[in-house]
Amino acid sequence: MRVLALAALAAFAFVPILPAATPDIVPKPASLTVREGKPFVLKWGQTVAGDDRFAAEIEVLRKAFFPATGVVIKKASGAEADFTVAYDASLPKEGYALEVSEKGVAIRASAPAGAFYAIQTLRQLLPPEASGPAPVRGKWEMPAVSIVDAPTYAWRGVMLDPCRSWMPVESVKRQLDAMAAHKLNVLHWHLTDDQGWRIEIKRFPRLTEVGSIRPCTPRPFARTQMDGEPYGPYFYTQDEIREVVAYAAARHITVVPEIELPGHAVAALRAYPELACSANPDLTPRWGVLKEIFCAGNPKTYELLEGVLDEVVALFPAPYVHIGGDEAPKDRWNKCPKCQAKMKALGCKNMHELQTKMAEHFAAYLAKKGRNCIGWDEILEGGLPKGAAIMSWRGVKAGVQAAKAGVHVVMTPKPFCYVDYNQLVPGDPYEYIPNNTPNPIWKTYGFDPVAGLPDEAKPFILGVQGNNWSEYVRSDRDRDWKMWPRTCAIAEVAWTPLAERDWEDFHGRMERSGLPRLKAMGLNAAPLTRPPEKK
Ligand code: ACM
Ligand code: ZN
Repeated sequence: MRVLALAALAAFAFVPILPAATPDIVPKPASLTVREGKPFVLKWGQTVAGDDRFAAEIEVLRKAFFPATGVVIKKASGAEADFTVAYDASLPKEGYALEVSEKGVAIRASAPAGAFYAIQTLRQLLPPEASGPAPVRGKWEMPAVSIVDAPTYAWRGVMLDPCRSWMPVESVKRQLDAMAAHKLNVLHWHLTDDQGWRIEIKRFPRLTEVGSIRPCTPRPFARTQMDGEPYGPYFYTQDEIREVVAYAAARHITVVPEIELPGHAVAALRAYPELACSANPDLTPRWGVLKEIFCAGNPKTYELLEGVLDEVVALFPAPYVHIGGDEAPKDRWNKCPKCQAKMKALGCKNMHELQTKMAEHFAAYLAKKGRNCIGWDEILEGGLPKGAAIMSWRGVKAGVQAAKAGVHVVMTPKPFCYVDYNQLVPGDPYEYIPNNTPNPIWKTYGFDPVAGLPDEAKPFILGVQGNNWSEYVRSDRDRDWKMWPRTCAIAEVAWTPLAERDWEDFHGRMERSGLPRLKAMGLNAAPLTRPPEKK
């Protein structure tokens, strides 16, 4: 067996690997001390032992180094092992302690997530090539370090949009792998929008039979012209959804599904046009904010959406379900007798209040099923919605207002966190949404999610999320380029204490190891940029 393994190793391509002078961990750990002494050398035949509570993570560790190094760690029965994974109740749920010396690697954690993150750090203690999927020959050394680490925020998210640009399951999984390597723990999956309904709903099959195919798409670099080509059918079957949820869970990532309402509903309205306010709705799937929305005064709207949420809740164990709420123009509601009647019946003064009431309706529906509800910040335009958390996207103002009022908030303001906006890479070949202020990586890195908040409001900030809308994404390579390395900046904002964050230090770690690591992982990451020199 061992001879065979050595023969396989000898066949690997030879790449000279030098150990990194400093461990370039991204996101930066809360505390890291380089110790005196020789590095730990990873070798075939090494063993791992640990607490049964961490059985799944011990399996992850056994195979964590295999693809690039060829080393599989063996399970040891006794405590004498090169790697140990011990239970330590004093550490926070997602935290870990890690000691690396010439003699071995000792992990401590109080919960599986912490042990998992210790393994991600271990992989980053090796040279970037060790994170790749293909065998590379080298001497695999981890510097001697002591690390005590835990995240600053509980919600460290990424939003993916398979509605505009379809993402097959494999495309989602490669982003989940990259997220896990950077200790991101929420995939916000934007599953429905004007340009596509992407989740199978058994009770309402037309949602995918009709809604997963759009009749035409704006042309690349000519967005006002439609190509006339049907796009689809593209949707996730319920089995595929379960597969992604399980794949994410194995990486300690929670998948939060989004069902958009009442706006961004044109794909659903193509399937069920009777749920629009007008008799002849305009269902052309242009990019941007479209006028047609679900009729708030039609009981059938609630029947459909409740039926959808029933199946969503059965598929996704996440504590939160996202109910959208952004960019819902009220023109149709203003002219619709049913919506007018509903507004009056609910005692609303205007259509913003009606939207907030609608959000409250679904928040209450989800609460009965034991779930929390979150929506884009427009849902508080008609007053703070009872029972719903806020995703602050138009800026930080709504998030600050909500947190001050004791409402939970995820900060994802577009001036920092939109990883689909132009990133000011010279000679960038990809197309971006026009007329938006660019989000270069240094700007994203500079975001402080609790800036401007009094201390008592800070605990209401659940965390931070990077959003990758996909109107202008045409391929995995295009998406990678827009998401990475900016999502590393999001990960560090979400994980690392503000006092430990420093742009120059981040840039150095990314240049030496972070960017080569992304490339080794097979991601088409964009180059790093810097702020312009001050004159
Ligand atoms: C959004 O970017 N429309 C939430
Ligand atoms: Zn209506």
